[in-house]
Amino acid sequence: MPTITTIDDLKRIYARRVPRMFYDYCESGSWTEQTFRDNSSDFDDIRLRQRVAVDMTGRSTTSQMIGQDVAMPVALAPVGLTGMQHADGEMKAARAAEKFGVPFTLSTMSINSIEDVAGFTDAPFWFQLYTMKDEDFVSRLIQRAKDANCSALVITLDLQILGQRHKDIKNGLSAPPKMTPKTIANLATKWGWGIEMLSAKRREFGNIVGHVHGVSDMSQLGAWTAEQFDPSLDWNKVAKLKEAWGGKVILKGILDAEDAKMALKVGADAIIVSNHGGRQLDGALSSIRALPAILDAVGDQVEVHLDGGIRSGQDVLKAVAMGAKGTYIGRAFIYGLGAMGQQGVTEALNVIHKELDTTMALCGETQVSDLGRHNLLVPEGFEGRWQ
Ligand code: GLV
Repeated sequence: MPTITTIDDLKRIYARRVPRMFYDYCESGSWTEQTFRDNSSDFDDIRLRQRVAVDMTGRSTTSQMIGQDVAMPVALAPVGLTGMQHADGEMKAARAAEKFGVPFTLSTMSINSIEDVAGFTDAPFWFQLYTMKDEDFVSRLIQRAKDANCSALVITLDLQILGQRHKDIKNGLSAPPKMTPKTIANLATKWGWGIEMLSAKRREFGNIVGHVHGVSDMSQLGAWTAEQFDPSLDWNKVAKLKEAWGGKVILKGILDAEDAKMALKVGADAIIVSNHGGRQLDGALSSIRALPAILDAVGDQVEVHLDGGIRSGQDVLKAVAMGAKGTYIGRAFIYGLGAMGQQGVTEALNVIHKELDTTMALCGETQVSDLGRHNLLVPEGFEGRWQ
């Protein structure tokens, strides 16, 4: 096995191993991909304060997210079609997260079902909900997540309709892939992926197929979203979903202080500052740039998490020192999963953990809870002077 020292090492293996259609799905932002790029590059604008001659023994990266103990403040983000990146991808990623001691979030648009993941792991995972026009289906989905003992419902608010990702359209993205000449030519070079996929538990959307009726084409994410997602989702409906769930609720996709205040009003346990990994509103602010204003507005009243652009432990440290109580990785764990299955997700978590731990030490800190703005050098005007 090659020596893995960075998330990029995993990404290189991932790119070789996984069919182009699914690589492109993961690696795309919407339209010009400006926000997708900014999510990562804006982290580079923040620098760290080096402190020396501080006793670095007894360090710990442990923390809490929504009251749950975590080995580090990093959860696995919900990612659609994860089971197309690697056979039984959601089950394997969930198990890697469980062994590491970080939360796993299962997407509504996963390949493995809620029940598959619950049967394969012991630790309660989080379930991410997309709301559909079919209210019965949504109620059943919520009940299935309760039956599976999920310990939080993550409601995504920024995808009532799908932002356009050009490559997905050009590739005819679907699960399972449709056998066009282009796909067949590409799959011929991905035999390792294909052999494992032959014995996968599922190759279709496991939470959906067999659970809804009257949908013309369930394999195409784009078509399904346009047909089934509920474009009328509003704060009233969010409040109703919260009530139906009755447990911890995390609202995902908050990028504006006004929306953060609304999330507070409906009683969210946490919010995720997120622009959906740059996959929805292209031209929106990066998550790390949007974070300070949201913290100013609601940071003392609700737990604030962040996703988008995190590819290293240094990025985690910057987000946490800025004030986020937790972070999420999406692409960073998908690279590992696609590269080498469960072991790859563990590798991704190990890389980030080691970077976080060492960087914390070199900043002169030994506990995550001690990280703060005093560890950061944030350039003047970082948030931007927008009118
Ligand atoms: C779905 O959540 C997507 O970003 O494709």
